[in-house]
Amino acid sequence: MDIVILAAGQGKRMRSALPKVLQPLAGRPLLSHVLETARALSPRRICIVYGHGGAAVRQAFPDEDLIWVQQEPQLGTGHAVAQALPALASLDGPAATILVLYGDVPLIRPSTLERLVKAAGQDKLALLTAELANPFGYGRIVRSHGKVVRIVEEKDASDEERQIREVNTGILAAPREGFARWLPKLSNANAQGEYYLTDIVALAVAEGMPVVTVHPDDTWETDGVNDKAQLARLERIHQRNQAARLMAAGVTLADPERIDIRGELICGRDVFIDVGCVFEGRVEIGDGSRILPYCVIQDAVIGKDCTVGPFARLRPKTVLADDVHVGNFVEIKNSTLGAHSKANHLSYLGDATIGQDVNVGAGTITCNYDGANKHRTVIEDEAFIGSDTQLVAPVTVGRGATVGAGTTLTRDAPPGQLTLSRAKQVTVPGWKRPVKKNKE
Ligand code: UD1
Ligand code: CA
Repeated sequence: MDIVILAAGQGKRMRSALPKVLQPLAGRPLLSHVLETARALSPRRICIVYGHGGAAVRQAFPDEDLIWVQQEPQLGTGHAVAQALPALASLDGPAATILVLYGDVPLIRPSTLERLVKAAGQDKLALLTAELANPFGYGRIVRSHGKVVRIVEEKDASDEERQIREVNTGILAAPREGFARWLPKLSNANAQGEYYLTDIVALAVAEGMPVVTVHPDDTWETDGVNDKAQLARLERIHQRNQAARLMAAGVTLADPERIDIRGELICGRDVFIDVGCVFEGRVEIGDGSRILPYCVIQDAVIGKDCTVGPFARLRPKTVLADDVHVGNFVEIKNSTLGAHSKANHLSYLGDATIGQDVNVGAGTITCNYDGANKHRTVIEDEAFIGSDTQLVAPVTVGRGATVGAGTTLTRDAPPGQLTLSRAKQVTVPGWKRPVKKNKE
């Protein structure tokens, strides 16, 4: 099987400089979702028909296994598939199947497509169709004695045909040889002056090729994205699906409607995630850990029995060992925290290696950047960092050391001792607060 993905449409209704198929759903382009699904079917080749904003689309997917075909001008869906056909010719045996997908239909399930391809077999045209309460705008499936005879587009349909509720989702599969016979015969003598892919149905029927239909399990699978409202709707559906998968695996979500996973979230047993958390990239959370409200966590590893948040931000390469506490308004980047360590309030920990049983006081900042280079801070086991400390990296706090509150640490703090940098406290005897002069 070969897969053709139509992605030439301009997407004017997005009102965006970004081509439609590059608009993000769960943090990555619509087209990347379609590609992931396409690859899950292990096709022999994947051909993407691109047009508007083509260079940007190609650059976004440098993968070597993709065949890119430009469609310029865009004369309709039939014309688009016709452009792909020569690129898929060379390797073909006679009975190869072509599956047509759309770059702006991101949530189609691999299992639905497997059923469609199976239904097409070696010698049938298989259409993915759906019964809709409101079929307005879609091509309608016209049947005679129960058999599909053609598809008629909304704009070309009679009043009677517009009553039909079975619609064409656009996704279909058929033998390559069929496409090779039908596509050159398409005409653009229709309401939109386009070469309709849908007209291949009547041509297949005329040849006596059976036309079969398959339905998606959920109607949102075949929903396309044309504007930002539809994009937001599919985003929520996708997030709900991911939330359902997590809960099925035993994760407790305070509210499955209020979680955003833009990447891969891997959770152990008895993980709890409160509302409003955003996960990006690859995040791992160990058994028994709790993520409190409104955390942003990207490419991080969280051990067992940790507490993170509320309002914590874990940036890439944050690694928390077991039983680590990260509290409110703490930002951590490219740092590791050893077991039982705590940074509970208002801190920035960047490029730091922090041992076990360390207490990082409120307001502690690692000054990791000197304006040109980044430097590491090392805090060894059982150190105690007093509140409002600045650790000017590169710097090391030795094992069991205590750093006094308000210290600006510019040299290493030796193990087991108290180090502090602080102006001596003075009290000015007899000092009087100024008072306002009385105006005359
Ligand atoms: C198409 C179907 C219609 C179906 C509907 C489902 C045809 C003629 N009609 O209509 O039966 O109900 O989808 O949404 O196929 N595209 C190209 N090149 C082109 C034209 C389109 O790549 O020259 C791509 C678009 O980017 C888009 C897709 O094909 O992703 C569908 O094109 P569009 O013009 O929106 O078709 P519809 O009118 O929605
Ligand atoms: Ca459309």
